[in-house]
Amino acid sequence: MKKTSRRGFLRSLRAGTAAVLVAHRPLPGLSRAALFDPVESAHDDGLIRLDRNDNAYGPSRKVIDAIHSSIGSVNRYPVNECSSLRKRIADLHHAKPEQVLMGCGSTEILRMAAFAFLGRGKQLIQASPTFEAIENYARAVSSDVISVRLTPRFSHDLDGMRARVGPSTTLVYICNPNNPTASLTPRKDVEDFIGKLPASTFVVIDEAYHHYAGQSGMYGSFIDHSIDNERVIVTRTFSSVYGLAGLRLGYAVAARNAIQRMRQFATEEDINIVVAQAASAALDDLDGANESVRRNMDDRQEFFNQAMARALKPIESHANFVMMNTFHPAEDVIEHFRRNNILIGRSFPAMSTYIRISLGRPDEMRRFWAAWDMLPYPKHTMQH
Ligand SMILES: Cc1ncc(COP(=O)(O)O)c(C=O)c1O
Repeated sequence: MKKTSRRGFLRSLRAGTAAVLVAHRPLPGLSRAALFDPVESAHDDGLIRLDRNDNAYGPSRKVIDAIHSSIGSVNRYPVNECSSLRKRIADLHHAKPEQVLMGCGSTEILRMAAFAFLGRGKQLIQASPTFEAIENYARAVSSDVISVRLTPRFSHDLDGMRARVGPSTTLVYICNPNNPTASLTPRKDVEDFIGKLPASTFVVIDEAYHHYAGQSGMYGSFIDHSIDNERVIVTRTFSSVYGLAGLRLGYAVAARNAIQRMRQFATEEDINIVVAQAASAALDDLDGANESVRRNMDDRQEFFNQAMARALKPIESHANFVMMNTFHPAEDVIEHFRRNNILIGRSFPAMSTYIRISLGRPDEMRRFWAAWDMLPYPKHTMQH
């Protein structure tokens, strides 16, 4: 089967013309494995995508099979599939289904949290820089947003954040590991911080990159080791370690009351049947998840090897991306990579000379470093 015709076919699939047909009757010469080969990118624009912290390898084979077998059900509403996935997630975290809220990506969960706990006269406290979705939703409901710079070691400045807490602070956002810095805030410090918050303040702990941080002794998930606090909401995503960013699924685990308040702002039937089945398969496929984490560790190590060979010193990464000081305006560096058909993360005004690079496959990273070596800056101006 030639690449071009396969791509053409994938395009028609995307246009929605042949999905059900495929589920039952593969086209002649087009194997099922080829159709869903995770390394066969459906993007044929020639760009290398190191910009969104998703997963360059795609989902595991078992998840791909689940996606394939779900196609025959896409004419039905996903009632049973969603409730069994919710139960599956609850069981995973030793929680009750009423303590789990799923969303169209954890982005939707962040929107629900902002809508439920913020509004005019209320205040969100967050780090700077951090993942901006919740800030955008906070502003959309006319909340004040206080951003407190990360410490020089790139963890949340929890003392600084606590100093800003007042009667109108109804929500605090802690992203751990933090996007864009890939850095950790020690669990013990977060626990102390939460213990000192007023009773009217909820806390979202965003664990989007949880799986990549597990090796660090100072990290601890607030789902796996929960604290007895009804105002803590923990979010996770299927976009990174499970390679399902395009299918959109995230969830929150929290006390029943907090979940109920957020659920009021959920979109009815927002979880589709394909992702419901794919996510169940992903949770069952422990080997697949472990392999994804292991591969990321290798790719991250290789990134640091390459950086060290160039006397560069990126921020220690506990995620599937790396942030690094270029000592030059980030916009110019981003544009250089763009001209070389490589997309890296957008610029972050609070760290205007840093770039964020999502880890890609080895061949993609070789292209990244080749483009890096072509940056038109004298080497001594790019090093610590
Ligand atoms: C920290 C963090 N939280 C949440 C999200 C959103 O993920 P999802 O794809 O689940 O909406 C991202 C995506 O980049 C992220 O970096």
